[in-house]
Amino acid sequence: MKNIVILISGRGSNMEALIAARDAGNLPVNIAAVISNRPDAAGLETAMKSGIVAHFVDHKGFAGREAFDAALAECIDQFSPDLVVLAGFMRILSEGFVRHYEGRLLNIHPSLLPSFPGLHTHQRALDEGVRIHGCTVHFVTPALDHGPVIIQAAVPVLDSDDETSLAARVLRQEHRIYPQAVRWFAEDKLRLEDGRVRLAAELADSAALISPEVR
Ligand code: GAR
Repeated sequence: MKNIVILISGRGSNMEALIAARDAGNLPVNIAAVISNRPDAAGLETAMKSGIVAHFVDHKGFAGREAFDAALAECIDQFSPDLVVLAGFMRILSEGFVRHYEGRLLNIHPSLLPSFPGLHTHQRALDEGVRIHGCTVHFVTPALDHGPVIIQAAVPVLDSDDETSLAARVLRQEHRIYPQAVRWFAEDKLRLEDGRVRLAAELADSAALISPEVR
């Protein structure tokens, strides 16, 4: 069974979705540790309550990005992860860090990348007047919120939406597609090859877009 390490910065609802999928028998991984860059991240407590080892490496204690990333990598690597899962980990990562985990570093982002990288994605989608919004799981490259796309979920933007309602609709889809992507990796049905996503033949034609849902 593959070892995964989950990195968080805050509430950790995507982490919870991964734990729930594992507990339901739908995600055959060992969640070796949850690590936060913030000591007060609410998700750390949630992880501990689930019996998962939880650590923090406080980025404020380091002079620069490289020093923090080196300490973070040292903390991660004691768990020998096959996969590192960024789940609301709100730090820009150095190129050296990303290269170290090349092909085994996933991120989830609350937009249909390459639209709306960065922050405030839902408000920006509303401001632009797009009719379809969503979320993306991708392999991480050194560019922020960028990299080969594994799976996306689309949701409609309704006239009645505000940032809160749209964020909630997208978050429900995040909680569907992240366990799905991690499961594919765990089952050796997903890999990065020459900078492109390769899915197992039985998935390649169909499975990587989740259709719109109104709720
Ligand atoms: C999620 O919406 C995730 O997609 C986003 O942060 C939120 C974390 O929520 N990540 C990014 O914006 C990365 N650029 P969570 O802590 O409840 O999972």
